[in-house]
This record gives sequence, structure tokens and C-alpha cells, in this order.
Amino acid sequence: MRRAIENRISRRKFEKEPVTSSEKKIIISLINELNEASGLAMAFLEDGSNAFQKLRKSYGLFTNVRSVILMKGNKELKNLKERIGYYGEDLVLAITDLGLGTCWVGGTFDKEELIVDDSEELVCVVLVGKVAAPSLTEKMMRSATHRKVKNMAERIISDQPVPQWVQNGMKAVLLAPSAKNTQKAMFKYENNILSAQIADDYSLDLTDLGIAKKHFELEAGGTFEFGNGGVFRLS
Ligand SMILES: Cc1cc2nc3c(=O)[nH]c(=O)nc-3n(C[C@H](O)[C@H](O)[C@H](O)COP(=O)(O)O)c2cc1C
Repeated sequence: MRRAIENRISRRKFEKEPVTSSEKKIIISLINELNEASGLAMAFLEDGSNAFQKLRKSYGLFTNVRSVILMKGNKELKNLKERIGYYGEDLVLAITDLGLGTCWVGGTFDKEELIVDDSEELVCVVLVGKVAAPSLTEKMMRSATHRKVKNMAERIISDQPVPQWVQNGMKAVLLAPSAKNTQKAMFKYENNILSAQIADDYSLDLTDLGIAKKHFELEAGGTFEFGNGGVFRLS
């Protein structure tokens, strides 16, 4: 499995020193490529810390927030929220490969502090920054509060034994980040057709669906159609 998929965890505590100018250059060129491919308007913001200053919203969850990627696109763009997840996770994994820390953030920040064009919707942000190797306390905290990872049987419904290639893709899905760690995206393999769906009763569900589809494809190949219930095709 791709190392970034296995190694990525949400990082909320960053070093004081900002990302270097060469890291910034790489990130911006990745964003440009992904915007081109997706029609999105994601943007790197060198200092977005103003959206993380009110204790009320961020509950002291984050330390030394600085660089932020605005996950946004034209309000009229079809499947906007899902595209943000699908292409955004490409970005998150590439940034993980650079050795930097990331965290998707949908709720715990002040949206009003980040200005976007009237024609655009800011779906969420991704924090980016230098991270130290997790300290002993962080590790202890993590294993104490260790995120629950659902098992494969909780994420896929099938009318037959699940073939190996689907299992491979699902292993990467299990490691995908999701808002509030709800891991709600569900896969279905029936009559030899694979599809992916989500309840869509929370504002970031479709973003989670895009992230889950991306993880599946990175491991198993092929592509899902966009849309809730989108069908998979081996390509
Ligand atoms: C769309 C989305 C929104 C998220 N929003 C927040 C957030 O507002 N605050 C936060 O601390 N973490 C947020 N997260 C991070 C999740 O809590 C995290 O991915 C999940 O608990 C799994 O942990 P992991 O990323 O370490 O594997 C978000 C994740 C996603 C995918």
C-alpha cells in the first residue's frame, strides 16, 4: 500500500517555523495541477492563523497553525463537495510524502475570517505545516484516544464473497480520514458491480465520500463516477 496512506494521521500540533519556500512552491504547483484537472479553485494561504485564534471555535485543538489550503470552488460546479474530497486527498497524500503534517478541518475554525469570492463556496480547509515526530505524550494521547477504525465488514455490503481486488481497495478506504471520524462512506458489491455511497445527512458527508473513493482507486486502480452511489469501472 502507498506509504502516505498507511502513515498519514491528522496532525494538529505544528512547529513554529513555517514551511520552506521550496515546499511552498511544490504545494502551489500541485494545487495548480489539481485545479486544472478538477475545475476547483483550491488556494494556498501562507498565513491563515486568524481563523484559528478564537478559543471558542478551535477549543485549543490546534497549535501553531499557519499555512492553510482553502478547499473551495465555484458554487455551480457539479459535485463540488465530493470533488474537494477526491482531489484534496491527492493533495494531502502528496504533502504527507513531503514529510509535512496535514489536517482536514471542516468545523473547528472561523469561516468568516477567510475571504473567498462571492461565486465560490469554501467547503473546508486543510492545515499544512512542519511537524515534529510525535512526542511520547502525543503518542500516549493517541493510543489512549486511538481513533476507532471500522472493520471491512462494516464498510461493504456484498451478495458474494468480496474479491481480492475489492478487498485491497477497501483496506485503503479503512485508513481514509473522515469528518468527526464517522467513516460513513459505504461500498456495495452486488451483481459484480461496485458502487460507493453515503447517507448525506451531514454537510461534509460528500467530501468524505470523495476521499474514500480516492483511497479505493489509489489501491485498486480504476475510477468511480462522481455522485452519491457512483459506480466503479476498472480502467
Ligand atoms: C472533511 C473532514 C473534516 C474534518 N474536520 C475536522 C475538524 O473540524 N476538526 C478536527 O480536529 N479534525 C477534523 N477532521 C479530522 C478527522 O477528525 C480525522 O480525519 C479522523 O478523526 C480520523 O483520524 P486520522 O485523520 O488521524 O486518521 C476532519 C476530517 C475530514 C475528512
